[in-house]
Amino acid sequence: GQPLKVALLGCGTVGTEVVRLLVESHGDLAARIGAPLELAGIAIRRPGRHRDVPVDPDLFTTDAAGLVRRPDVDLVVEVIGGIEPARSLLLAAMDNGASVVTANKALLAADGATLFAAADRNGVDLYYEAAVGGAIPLIRPLRESLAGDRIRRVLGIVNGTTNYILDRMDTSGVSFEEALEEAQALGYAEPDPTADVEGFDAAAKAAILAGLAFHTRVTASDVHREGITQVSATDVASAKAMGCVVKLLAIAELTPDGKRVGVRVHPAMIPRTHPLASVREAYNAVFVESAAAGQLMFYGAGAGGAPTASAVLGDLVTVARNRVRGHRGSGESTYASVEVHPMGDT
Ligand code: HSE
Repeated sequence: GQPLKVALLGCGTVGTEVVRLLVESHGDLAARIGAPLELAGIAIRRPGRHRDVPVDPDLFTTDAAGLVRRPDVDLVVEVIGGIEPARSLLLAAMDNGASVVTANKALLAADGATLFAAADRNGVDLYYEAAVGGAIPLIRPLRESLAGDRIRRVLGIVNGTTNYILDRMDTSGVSFEEALEEAQALGYAEPDPTADVEGFDAAAKAAILAGLAFHTRVTASDVHREGITQVSATDVASAKAMGCVVKLLAIAELTPDGKRVGVRVHPAMIPRTHPLASVREAYNAVFVESAAAGQLMFYGAGAGGAPTASAVLGDLVTVARNRVRGHRGSGESTYASVEVHPMGDT
């Protein structure tokens, strides 16, 4: 088939890996899709910082808005993060007829509704497997595999940075501050760690999972949120003495009457015998409990360039196949049969 043109927005840790995989697996991807993928351009904030990316330097541009409006662009991959300019760029891309793959959990959790409406209006795909749990398949299982079941609860560890910090506190008895410094030195935590340690990142992911699981719209502001900055070495030691470990949990569940959903993120003590207690370092794990399937567990690398790029490429192959066959993939099913409320209000 005709080559499909891919515009990449952002070329940080994940973007660089996406390019590497696109180049390295070019032939395999073409065979799987039925048409080759060709980079149309790579939008970066500042020129001249990407010598490690194995492509024609002419592909780099600082004009992201121009790139997503180009008539030859079929697919847009967004790995910039944050609300703006990502939202405007993705809306422009979809209005231009391109299908979109994004890893942007903050944007989806803040204003997913606007993006999903744009995808519907333009008849294009919007895929975001990389937004939650890095490489772990979670979005498709919730949106597609479990679409015939009734989910009661989603519970898990969806932030690798805080799990690494809590794991270090548990195994070495260090303070939160010391563990955070270690996480920063290893590149797990950002220089400004607020989004991770205050639970914003986990809350965004919890909102996305809850929306899919319960077929409703959940935004980050609906999520009751508490981070790990107040967890002390003493708390962790006391938990240990009781045969427990402290984990930052994201929980979305239906009220017993099935009419309302509560979503929350907070540190919790869990018994060492619980499978979530064995989630070490920066790994993620999510439990899904549903009426017919029972309990399912999803586990793997929740962050990092290559794992996240794996999920992005999977989405890219899917939306590219849909293009080649002239149809759309699975959209969101939102009918708001349940009301969203902070769990504290129950
Ligand atoms: N900061 C996130 C984490 C990256 O630590 O899990 C992946 O979304």
